[in-house]
Amino acid sequence: MNNHQGNQERTSLHGQWSSRLTFILAVTGSAIGLGNIWKFPYIAGENGGGAFVLIYLVCIFLIGFPIMVSELMLGRKGRRNPITSMKILGQEEHGNQNWKWVGLIGLTAGFIILSYYSVIAGWTLHYFKMSLLGELSNLDNESAQSIFNELTSSAATQLIYHTAFMAITIAIIAKGIKEGLERAVKLMMPGLLIILVILLFYSISQGDFMAGVNFLLKPDFSKVTSQSILAAMGQAFFTLSLGMGCIVMYGAYLPKNESIIGTTTTIIFCDTLIALLAGLVIFPIVFQFGLKPTDGPGLIFLTLPLAFSEISGGYVFSGLFFILLAFAAITSALSLLEPSVAWMIENKNYTRGKSALIIGVLIWLLGLLSIFSFNLLSGLSFWKGTLFDNLDYLSSNILLPMSGLLFTIFASWIMKRKHSLEELSDVSRRVYSLWRFSARYIAPVGVILVFLNAIGII
Ligand code: TRP
Repeated sequence: MNNHQGNQERTSLHGQWSSRLTFILAVTGSAIGLGNIWKFPYIAGENGGGAFVLIYLVCIFLIGFPIMVSELMLGRKGRRNPITSMKILGQEEHGNQNWKWVGLIGLTAGFIILSYYSVIAGWTLHYFKMSLLGELSNLDNESAQSIFNELTSSAATQLIYHTAFMAITIAIIAKGIKEGLERAVKLMMPGLLIILVILLFYSISQGDFMAGVNFLLKPDFSKVTSQSILAAMGQAFFTLSLGMGCIVMYGAYLPKNESIIGTTTTIIFCDTLIALLAGLVIFPIVFQFGLKPTDGPGLIFLTLPLAFSEISGGYVFSGLFFILLAFAAITSALSLLEPSVAWMIENKNYTRGKSALIIGVLIWLLGLLSIFSFNLLSGLSFWKGTLFDNLDYLSSNILLPMSGLLFTIFASWIMKRKHSLEELSDVSRRVYSLWRFSARYIAPVGVILVFLNAIGII
């Protein structure tokens, strides 16, 4: 249709990142979260350890990398929320606005994810409070278990913390990019790494470190099923915040002169490092205390308090750990909320505060389902398990890969070569071609094969 569109540079309506560092912190803040520290260890535990980790790493590099580059590129070119960006770019690149639906799948996934993410983040706030009050001392296997059961069986306690967590997230997003998002990540990200390293020393000296290392790094392929391959891919999407459009959104605030491939490399490196470190902290403790790596979503809430209660002054460490975990969760939650809020500001003309409140409350409501799935509705089991299990499976294993696939197909097949080349102009032609090849063939074929495999076709 109109070939002259798109030559003029659009600008974001919400401002830009103030520096390269804050952008990297924001995206790493989005990537590093409960996915690394809470989800990765328990999913690896449920899926047999080493072999799962290996498949996960392959998914990160072959599928995650090209897709993250694609999403950043689409965001920076579109400069709007993911739905509108896809609509504009679809129109510009080949006269079809239907690409907006890809953005919508992503935003839906983000909506669902934040609803249960906030519940789990609430658990970390509760454990923080208990650490401070000294309620986590002198634990043994059983008392740790019963503290955890008490929490999950109480809808009221979870409701309080879920509400608190959503309120914090909404308040930060309401303040905007520079005053809210950037300030939060600059404050919250650095400490997390320090604490993880301290904990690693603890786990090396006190835990059964070699058993942990073996479990995490020694592949036993007899445990690999098609479902565990899908779980590994789902986890790769989840941990890198892909498929939902939040990377598209953060790309929309990225200045033109920043290197997309360079920043992606840094972000993926940090995220993977933190996930592996978290595993190396947690599994040695699991084996030391005779816990089961297959304990599911409760894994870190059962293991870490036990470990901390063994050392004198351990409540300080445990308090620090849980508050920093909450920080990691907040910086991720911000990225889950921002795209829908930006959509509402851009399309409904509401203020940022009002948009954050409306969307936040809707997500909070959906979160009630996850809370109840641990108590009132725990008997309700269908498809993949409880309501919580289903919300997680649907969003991470189906919606994220699906929209991630479509984002990367758009960036590599539909977007004109000239345009993608412009976005990646800082790297050599060889690196560009490598991206384009993996975005066109490797990532899509990978995602589709894993899907077909999981539904039993191959
Ligand atoms: N990546 C975050 C974590 O590991 C969670 C997250 C933030 C996310 N934004 C996302 C997951 C978008 C999927 C899609 O905890």
